[in-house]
Amino acid sequence: MEKQMAAKLLTTCLIGSAILGGICYCYYYWNNNNGLLNRRKKKKGIRVYMDGCFDMMHYGHCNALRQARALGDHLFVGVVSDSEIIANKGPPVTPLHERLTMVSAVKWVDEVIPDAPYAITEEFMNKLFNEYKIDYIIHGDDPCVLPDGTDAYALAKQAGRYKQIKRTEGVSSTDIVGRMLLCVRERSVTDNPNPKHSSLQRQFSHGHSHNFEDNTATRISHFLPTSRRIVQFSNGRGPGPDARIVYIDGAFDLFHAGHVEILRIARDLGDFLLVGIHTDQTVSATRGAHRPIMNLHERSLSVLACRYVDEVIIGAPWEVSKDMLTTFNISLVVHGTIAENHDFEKEKSNPYAVPISMGVFKILDSPLDITTTTIIRRILSNHEAYQVCLYLIISYA
Ligand SMILES: *[C@@H]1O[C@H](CO)[C@@H](O)[C@H](O)[C@H]1NC(C)=O
Repeated sequence: MEKQMAAKLLTTCLIGSAILGGICYCYYYWNNNNGLLNRRKKKKGIRVYMDGCFDMMHYGHCNALRQARALGDHLFVGVVSDSEIIANKGPPVTPLHERLTMVSAVKWVDEVIPDAPYAITEEFMNKLFNEYKIDYIIHGDDPCVLPDGTDAYALAKQAGRYKQIKRTEGVSSTDIVGRMLLCVRERSVTDNPNPKHSSLQRQFSHGHSHNFEDNTATRISHFLPTSRRIVQFSNGRGPGPDARIVYIDGAFDLFHAGHVEILRIARDLGDFLLVGIHTDQTVSATRGAHRPIMNLHERSLSVLACRYVDEVIIGAPWEVSKDMLTTFNISLVVHGTIAENHDFEKEKSNPYAVPISMGVFKILDSPLDITTTTIIRRILSNHEAYQVCLYLIISYA
């Protein structure tokens, strides 16, 4: 009797195990196969391409790259070489290696192609399709015509491999140059009147010269910050439970390769990089009434688009207080060696006095010797080279 019971129990157990094993195997098989499918799909993905000069890069470029990336899974960005830019529209303000640093640091960019032609050629397009396996070429909704009057993207359009994105409203390089020139003119009127600058304004204004006659019209940005745009640019993630939070602050005006490099190094010192962006009033008070060139929201978007940045404080205080360190659980406060104002070290009220006294302040060696003033100077000397050319052309004609 007992033996029979035991045998029955054993059989039930065996059948049960077999069923359970079967279920487990099915589950494992289904999961694994799905995993394989997912991986294969991901590896292929949709590859999209966008190109540009990215000279005087601003958040409008970043927004274009964000939109391009949203149309695929892998974004390749072609950056036009210096020689191609010189041949087509005169010397660039930013050399290629800095333009590459900036484009590569944009968080939606997966790969950079450093030798893109100024206007897309049939040969280059074939290279994109065959070598880089690009699925779609992306371009803004402004027309792009070749010197012979044909549409640069006609071929890609015919092949059904062209997609368009909307231009970002409220910003253009011309507009930024206008703001910069204004800051120079404001100074030159008082320091040393220089008639050169008015012709410079004409050169960059492209017929919108009325803008330059009214100072306030140029100073006011046409950019309207919306909460949605900030969300689109944001990572949407807070620090993890044991994250070491690093804090760096500054104006980050005319966001450049020097900014990118110091942010990269700062991010390496922790798990989460919090960037404090000073208010327009703070920047004006420390650098002069003609600064900043870009307003607080524009500067915030440029910093947010950088892959090394986890979060920004839109309008950070000049002084880093104990309260701030506690609220954000900041482990380390850093500052680069190359900065527009080093006067803080001499000042009676050092903005970093609290983190210094707590032993959580560190000076970082800036890898690049560039400041916002460098960028403004480049624009002016770029123009002076143009003036010399013009002078030679006129005098030898
Ligand atoms: C604060 O940061 C430290 C790392 O520096 C971390 O270990 C700790 O968990 C953080 N505290 C909170 C409340 O997040």
